[in-house]
Amino acid sequence: MRKPFFGMVLASVASIGATSVIAAGDPIAIRQSIMQSVGAAAGLGGGMMKGEIAYTPAAGKAVIAAMDASAHSFGSFFPAGTDTGDTTASPKIWEDAAGFEAALAKFAGASGAAMAASGKNGPADVDAFKAAMGPVFGNCKACHQDFRVKK
Ligand code: HEC
Repeated sequence: MRKPFFGMVLASVASIGATSVIAAGDPIAIRQSIMQSVGAAAGLGGGMMKGEIAYTPAAGKAVIAAMDASAHSFGSFFPAGTDTGDTTASPKIWEDAAGFEAALAKFAGASGAAMAASGKNGPADVDAFKAAMGPVFGNCKACHQDFRVKK
């Protein structure tokens, strides 16, 4: 009686494993999920800057750390051949690789400086958070204009 039940559990565990293996091998999906985390962090950070969400140093630090991790990992998921498919990455990323590298370095430089400024516990108040995050936010539109296509 129990055997079929166990078989079903094992089958679902196996299929969860298979799904993550496929995701791990899909650079387009990975870089988009990194940008979704950037977008979510920007939503929280922007909300706190506008006073729509109560500021706390821990939340400020979480926003900055998410930006910094993303800025340092995003560039690793643009192998040749991933300019087509379900992506809004512009062909310019591969045509002007040095320009894209420079935009990534600028983003990572700003997020790294924000990390350094935020200390162990995060920026003490919302003004310190704004000062740290301003240069990070300055990168979104610039890079999207140069290296993203509208679909
Ligand atoms: C160095 C370049 C660069 C910077 C800086 C950058 N982005 Fe992006 N972003 C991209 C590219 C390229 C894509 C398209 C990825 C794809 O579709 O393969 C993208 C896609 C996105 C997406 C859509 C993700 C999806 O689900 O397809 C969001 C949201 C986003 N970016 C938010 C932001 C925000 C907010 C910032 C600033 C804090 C930012 N980005 C900074 C290059 C950048």
